[in-house]
Formats: sequence, structure tokens, C-alpha cells
Amino acid sequence: MTPPLTFRRGASDDAEALANLAARTFLETYRDFEEVQDNADYVAKHFQVPAVARLLADPQAATLLAVWGADLAGYSVLRAGTPPSCVSGAKPLQLERFYLAEAATGRGEGTRFLRAVQAEARRLGALTLWLGVYHRNARAIRFYEARGFRQIGERDFPFGGKIFVDPVYAIAVDEIRFPEPTGLTRES
Ligand SMILES: CC(C)(COP(=O)(O)OP(=O)(O)OC[C@H]1O[C@@H](n2cnc3c(N)ncnc32)[C@H](O)[C@@H]1OP(=O)(O)O)[C@@H](O)C(=O)NCCC(=O)NCCS
Repeated sequence: MTPPLTFRRGASDDAEALANLAARTFLETYRDFEEVQDNADYVAKHFQVPAVARLLADPQAATLLAVWGADLAGYSVLRAGTPPSCVSGAKPLQLERFYLAEAATGRGEGTRFLRAVQAEARRLGALTLWLGVYHRNARAIRFYEARGFRQIGERDFPFGGKIFVDPVYAIAVDEIRFPEPTGLTRES
């Protein structure tokens, strides 16, 4: 049986492992949706070690890592800054990245990870959490909606020379819902 994930903040010496994980989880998530070259270009731009080292050092960003023993199994990034105009809640913080390795999904770990993100958002003084999600990422949309996030608008997201219109979701930090585990996993 796989032990549960633990969660900790990212540090500068996580840059290489996080770059690998970020590239892997991005490709796992979007490879069936978008062109191979566009995905590769995005990964090259955002997930090479120097870019990830800058992310880990960015005072506007808070990175949480989901860990299995010595291995990284997921990461999230909370980002401060001006949100799109559709976000009207007080003290907003963006959930800019929220990714688990495919092997870690579908057994309640994402829910536990969101709890850790909620605690981190509170620690940072946020009252509202918002995010943009790729409109074809039905699993993630279902996950957020089941936890109380509601679509409040849209935003443009440039990718592969095109502009995608991503739904924007938000929730009050204290109103995130955490369903009781069903005891069912994908294996059962
Ligand atoms: C989105 C993501 C973080 C969700 O994580 P997850 O581990 O799959 O989520 P969970 O297992 O906690 O919940 C998913 C479903 O599994 C089911 N589940 C199975 N076992 C469970 C358990 N023990 N406890 C709770 N839910 C469980 C639930 O029914 C839940 O359904 P729901 O979302 O309709 O409530 C994850 O799928 C992921 O990383 N996807 C790829 C990256 C991505 O798309 N990120 C979002 C970018 S915006």
C-alpha cells in the first residue's frame, strides 16, 4: 500500500527535481489535448531548471511540494498579484499551479493536497482563492466544482501561438468543501 503524501514548502535545492516533475505533470495532463510541439515549447519556457529556480525564489509565489519518501509527487504554486477583473473577493491569491503525478491521482491525495494549500493560503493572509483552468481539463474542473469553487468569469491564456479562453474559478478560502473519503479507490 502506498503511504500518504506529505507536504512541505519548496526550497532552492528543489529546483532540479521540481523542474522534472513540473515538466512531467504538464505533459501527462495536456498531451492528449494539444500539439506535441506546443507542449514542448511551453515546458522549455517554464520548466527548465533556471526558470524553476526563479520561481522558488520569487517573493510573490509560494510553492508547496507533495512528497513520497524522497520523491516529489506533486506541487502547487500560490501567487500574489492583481487578479482578473472578474475576481471580486477580498484578499485574493491565485492557485497558479496544482499538479499531482498521474500515479498519485484518484485516491484522495488531491483533496489532502488542497487542504494543505488552504492552510498555506490562510498563512499568507488570503481570503479568496482563484484559478484559471484549461476548458478541456474536465477532471480538474469536476474536482474544483465538487469542492465548492464556482466559475466567475474567463481569462485569456496565450498558448502555442493561440489565445485560449480559460474559465476562472474562485472560492472563499474558508468555504472550500472537503468531501469525506468514500473508501473507494481506482484500484478497488
Ligand atoms: C486535479 C487533481 C489535483 C485532483 O487530484 P486527485 O488526487 O485526482 O483528487 P482526489 O482523488 O482527491 O479526488 C478525485 C476523485 O477521486 C475520488 N476519490 C477516490 N478516492 C478518494 C478518497 N479516498 N478520498 C476522496 N476522494 C476520493 C473522489 O470521488 C473524487 O471525485 P470528485 O473530485 O468528483 O469529488 C489531479 O487529478 C491532478 O493533478 N490532475 C492533473 C493536473 C491538473 O489537471 N491540475 C489542475 C490544473 S488547473
